[in-house]
Amino acid sequence: MKKPIKFASPLIDEATIAAAADVLRSGHITSGVWVERFEAALSEFCGARPVRVVTSATAAMEIALQLCGIGRGDEVITCAQSFFAVPNMIVKQGATPVFVDCDPLTRNIDLAAVAARIGPRTRAIMPTHWPGSLVDLDALYALARDRKLRVIEDAALVMGSTFNGRPVGAIGDLVSFSFHPNKNMTSIEGGALVINDADEAKRVEVLRFHGIERLADGTRDVGFPGGKFNLPDVNARIGLAQLERLPGFLSQRRALAERYFARFATDPACVLPPRPAAGDGQTWNMFCILLPLERMSMSRKAFRDALAARGIATGVSYEALHLCTLGRRFGYHRGDLPNTERIADSTVTLPLHAGMTLDDVDRVCAACEEILAEARMEPASARATQ
Ligand SMILES: Cc1ncc(COP(=O)(O)O)c(C=O)c1O
Repeated sequence: MKKPIKFASPLIDEATIAAAADVLRSGHITSGVWVERFEAALSEFCGARPVRVVTSATAAMEIALQLCGIGRGDEVITCAQSFFAVPNMIVKQGATPVFVDCDPLTRNIDLAAVAARIGPRTRAIMPTHWPGSLVDLDALYALARDRKLRVIEDAALVMGSTFNGRPVGAIGDLVSFSFHPNKNMTSIEGGALVINDADEAKRVEVLRFHGIERLADGTRDVGFPGGKFNLPDVNARIGLAQLERLPGFLSQRRALAERYFARFATDPACVLPPRPAAGDGQTWNMFCILLPLERMSMSRKAFRDALAARGIATGVSYEALHLCTLGRRFGYHRGDLPNTERIADSTVTLPLHAGMTLDDVDRVCAACEEILAEARMEPASARATQ
């Protein structure tokens, strides 16, 4: 069998391994000077806004919600086509996630639906940016300003994307990034939160480390039960090295996405993500297609198994959050958010990472074409007339 095409494969070069080894040898391996340097570099990347790093984007979102003072009795509006971590953190604060539908093509939060669901208990909007199609930040922040709401942008998938020429994170309210190994850059595990000012930065430092505040007399106090989310220096050193390589990773990812657009042609046809205009600043963390299940004689699981048998790994991004057991606890049912449900039922995430080649993409495209040709069924109307 040909070399397997993995779902994700972070590129850690020898220089990065040597730099991480130096930190390990230094004797100071948990949060210290490398965290400060990583944060300074991220801040420069995000238009000089303050940035604090933590152990994951999930932690960053938890802290962001705490920073906004969100808790019991509050509502946070979020999109049902996203990752579990988003509603998990809302519910963990004691607040209620209010799920709205996504745009059928971009998969981004439907801002008209957000506007319709804002009520007296709404405190914040938590949208997830999709690879290849950022949320319209002008429209999002016009709405948030008008309704006096906080915004926590989940930018886990779009590190390095730009909106009107400015990087995600350089504008807006609170913005969280993920450095998990399948993201645009990695610190093994890790995340970052972009905040507004020095006061918020200080509060993040407290919230990420037990809620401990240092008092003038040299003792410590806790007023709020913080978490333990400080990023070790070893991870920060790796993250810093990855940030330097990010432009290269992003251009390879763009080339791979372009290759998918150029070569992906199946019969029956799949729905591809919207193709952005060249140079519009989008990045490609994932390439998600929608299967034409109504014209296929096989299930999504069988399709993914057939790709796996050819050595090609895939994922599902994402399940419908309002229909998972936690979401249903808030009263949601099938049929409530049709775009999200159609996507969740038929989406397949194809491999796309900077370690892949254009030939790898061609292999994935050819495999999809072959499997779908075998699985092709005539539309029900055509079958009925035969
Ligand atoms: C859209 C989205 N948001 C947030 C997260 C959470 O990231 P982390 O694993 O760094 O907590 C993920 C993780 O895959 C994600 O896909």
